[in-house]
Amino acid sequence: MSNVYIMDHPLIQHKIGIMRRKTTSTKEFRDLVSEVAMLICYEATRKLPLTEIEIETPLMRTVAKEIEGKKLCIVPILRAGLHMADGILTLIPNAKVGHIGLYRNEETLEPVEYFCKLPSDAAEREMYVVDPMLATGGSAVAAINLLKKRGIKKITFLCLIAAPEGVARLTSEHPDVDVYIGNLDERLNENGYILPGLGDAGDRIYGTK
Ligand code: PRP
Ligand code: URA
Repeated sequence: MSNVYIMDHPLIQHKIGIMRRKTTSTKEFRDLVSEVAMLICYEATRKLPLTEIEIETPLMRTVAKEIEGKKLCIVPILRAGLHMADGILTLIPNAKVGHIGLYRNEETLEPVEYFCKLPSDAAEREMYVVDPMLATGGSAVAAINLLKKRGIKKITFLCLIAAPEGVARLTSEHPDVDVYIGNLDERLNENGYILPGLGDAGDRIYGTK
């Protein structure tokens, strides 16, 4: 069974509330995508194993903790996932970044793949797939299928807003993937948009509509 974690932190709630408003500017929206992604990542990395190392403070030797040699990789789904990756890199600056390009066919709502570039040692890495919106779930499922085909075993999915339909599809097709969600919304409309949602995340980040 997938583990689904829905964020209840007040900062995440507050910031997503600002993102939803239609009056929020492109710049403010883009900055908030990064900030909220960073906050969700803080929760998603809670289980990373620690190891102890000996260090020297200015006063004495002591034992400190550091994250065990985990090899992490952030995989934004283009376009809208890119700004989530930027926010996460401020917390985990040494992570590698892979890119998966997918867009939804507006009629069928099926994802169309147009790009995939992963680090050469991807199969050894733990992947954090990021996309602000989990709507029908088609894009997330396709991105994770692609990673699994390349031998990747440990995958976590992070999004800002999800529809129940997308969560159901993702958890049934990939029950081994942990899913971190900023806000769980009500439903999809007839065009596959999340209600109440925030509109088209890519367009709001890049000002393309
Ligand atoms: C949006 C969003 C997800 C996808 C979610 O991208 O960023 O990738 O839709 O929908 P789904 O769960 O029904 O697949 P979009 O296809 O609009 O592409 P874009 O980022 O290039 O704008
Ligand atoms: N993609 C978006 O950007 N927004 C939605 O509501 C659904 C899919």
